[in-house]
Amino acid sequence: VSWSRAGVVELDRVDPLAQYRRRFVIDDDALVYLDGNSLGRLSIDTRDRVVAALDQEWGHSLISSWEDRWLDLPTRIGDLLGTTLLGADTGEVVVNDSTTIALYKAVAAALDARPHRSAVVIDEDNFPTDRYVVASLAEQRGLDVRWIPEAGPEGVAVDAVVERLDDDVALTVLSHVDYRSAAILDIDAITKAAHEVGALALWDLCHSVGVVPTDLHASDVDLAVGCTYKYLSSGPGAPAFTYVRRDLQAQLRQPIWGWFGRADQFEMAPGYEPSPGIASWLTGTPGILSLVAVEPSVALVAEAGVESIRRKSEKLTALAVDLYDQWLGDLGWTLQSPRDPARRGSHVTVSHPAARQAMADLVELGVIPDFRRPDGIRLGLAPLTTRYTDVYDGLQRLASVTPTRS
Ligand SMILES: Cc1ncc(COP(=O)(O)O)c(C=O)c1O
Repeated sequence: VSWSRAGVVELDRVDPLAQYRRRFVIDDDALVYLDGNSLGRLSIDTRDRVVAALDQEWGHSLISSWEDRWLDLPTRIGDLLGTTLLGADTGEVVVNDSTTIALYKAVAAALDARPHRSAVVIDEDNFPTDRYVVASLAEQRGLDVRWIPEAGPEGVAVDAVVERLDDDVALTVLSHVDYRSAAILDIDAITKAAHEVGALALWDLCHSVGVVPTDLHASDVDLAVGCTYKYLSSGPGAPAFTYVRRDLQAQLRQPIWGWFGRADQFEMAPGYEPSPGIASWLTGTPGILSLVAVEPSVALVAEAGVESIRRKSEKLTALAVDLYDQWLGDLGWTLQSPRDPARRGSHVTVSHPAARQAMADLVELGVIPDFRRPDGIRLGLAPLTTRYTDVYDGLQRLASVTPTRS
């Protein structure tokens, strides 16, 4: 396929999700923002909700807002997120902490639930925080980390996990969508393989939540964590979510005991007794101003529908790959994402020895992608706000700033 700009304008004209862009705060319509996979744009509903939390709930109602509006937010928003976007039931998801802390709690609880096993499986491609959390807990407990080597653009294959599984493995920790290549891992097959040796499977959903549908029950996932500031657009540092399958909740105990996770919190009683259910995964006072932003943001994604978001996402990344073929391949760029749209999340990564300079030049031209050391540029395509013409203009400008080989 060879694309003309007119052809791409037509894609925007018939896009069933095009109207959602108007629901976001966009003060510079010409800016080509291709970093929604790192920090999603602010929606108008979310801004209004945060302003109301500031002015009315904190400014006017003060401490009474805790009881009236805030105390049940982590589980209430967890229910909304779980039931609309994750394929979970109510009472299985809580929104709280950063992804790193949520991951730490989940990994520790899973390891405690398999006390006689001595190994954890994770991949070298995984996001740094996931690798560090696993390494830290393994070191504290004298466990082996079985590293799956870097897998390249196609992502970690099921066999690479299976080869490292046996009845010494307590847990697998993998990302549903690889943060660099966007490769989608086979969550069903890997979870099944982990279960076959009696291990638990923990999934990091940071790059899939809100853009690649997940059905945690159908996939039989044990634990999952993810952030809310990428495709869920809940704002910088917005809290993470933790999913714990209901039948595991009684067996798993998170390690950071604080008063928010205690049964009868306000009794201030001696000793620690966890709350029943998912509320036991809370620890301390949530950051309410960030937490309130998650609810309208999730509601907006749910309103648009993750299936239609996924359809547009596949088309956006397919357009990016077509334009890579049209312009970038001959300029020395290499595609670092899967070619099959079904195997790819919502970003496309390309690499080039001159990527760092190209990135700086792109910003000058009003395009914001994401640079990944040492030589990668990630083009994050957020279906509720990214236009097909943004993909066209962004890649055309990327081609224009690429030094031609002499
Ligand atoms: C896969 C993955 N896990 C975790 C994180 C971040 O963790 P935190 O929210 O604690 O910074 C990211 C952030 O980009 C990520 O991509």
